[in-house]
Amino acid sequence: MVLIKISGLCQKYGGRTVLNNINMAIEKGEVFALIGPTGAGKTTLLRLMGFLEAPTTGEIYFDGADISVAKRVKLEVRRRIAFVLQKPVVFNMSIYDNIACGLKWRGKKHPEIEAKISHLLEVVGLSALRHKNARTLSGGEAQRVAIARALAVEPEVLLLDEPTANLDPVSTAKIEQLVSHAVRLKMTVIMTTHDMSQGQRLANRIGVLVNGEMLQVGNSSQIFASPRNKKVAELVGVENIIDGVVTSNEEKAVTIDIGGAIIEAISDLSVGEEICACVRPEDITLTLSKTPSSARNSFSGKIVRVISIGPLMRVQIDCGFPLVALVTTKSAEELGLKSGRRVCASFKATGIHVVKKEERI
Ligand SMILES: Nc1ncnc2c1ncn2[C@@H]1O[C@H](COP(=O)(O)OP(=O)(O)OP(=O)(O)O)[C@@H](O)[C@H]1O
Ligand SMILES: [Mg+2]
Repeated sequence: MVLIKISGLCQKYGGRTVLNNINMAIEKGEVFALIGPTGAGKTTLLRLMGFLEAPTTGEIYFDGADISVAKRVKLEVRRRIAFVLQKPVVFNMSIYDNIACGLKWRGKKHPEIEAKISHLLEVVGLSALRHKNARTLSGGEAQRVAIARALAVEPEVLLLDEPTANLDPVSTAKIEQLVSHAVRLKMTVIMTTHDMSQGQRLANRIGVLVNGEMLQVGNSSQIFASPRNKKVAELVGVENIIDGVVTSNEEKAVTIDIGGAIIEAISDLSVGEEICACVRPEDITLTLSKTPSSARNSFSGKIVRVISIGPLMRVQIDCGFPLVALVTTKSAEELGLKSGRRVCASFKATGIHVVKKEERI
């Protein structure tokens, strides 16, 4: 069921377009992550969804109601949404009072507040510090207090702006547990993040916002395995993005001129189209010399760098264009892979994901 529907949303500040024609829907109970580079418009979109400001043009419907119609509707809807800011605000009072203040404003009675806050303090792992002044907390603790305060009023929608920015891995894991807790309480969570892996871990769906445009919306495997265009591929960290032009297409078996060399791939893009060939490092096979194999693409190159990452080796190769391959440490040792060594890098036509250089939805 759609909870928030956004159509034709634009936001301008002083004539500058910050969000351009955003169309999307948020499903009830989902975790939706907005990812995108700095300045992409993530916070702005979140603020609009939280009705903290009005869009220049376009509509936002909450549970079927157009919020712009009546002030009263807007106020009712606002009470169903909680917003935790990028820089969490904590008040100059105890952790307990910080978390309780939303309930006090809503006129709740003391026993109810006490029971609820004690439970939330357990959830956020701050029971022992309940009387401590919140202003003295670390960034991660303050973020937990801000989220607990939001959870206390049992919103239907929790908006989290970069909830783990600048936090260490332990604090990040704690915040992520809180997001999972909110999901168990059937809240709809919309969050922004720079952290692609966090989007993958937490979100049912991800929206990729670049320069005010929503370039792709999908589940994490759609976004990470099949980025829609070059910008998305770059943003989600595809390591091998090779620019080229389609020079032939016979029943989707395409040849791509990458400036001197040819790559064969599968795609329905037409001849003349400017594209990028995305190749996953784990799909590249390295051998010491050219071997007859089923891989359609085989390039000779010189190893530039070898970096160990746990059981794997990341091998950077110069094939006239840069290529990164991931191989097991065992096979790297067997092949004697080290910088300066010449190798042959092969990958199958079917392992390549071909995307247009520029495309919008
Ligand atoms: N109230 C405002 N007045 C003028 N410009 C604004 C305002 N709010 C945001 N902007 C501009 O809009 C653009 C998008 O800002 P926004 O904060 O939404 O980006 P973001 O994706 O959240 O970035 P970050 O990842 O750094 O938090 C920026 O260029 C910012 O300077
Ligand atoms: Mg922001």
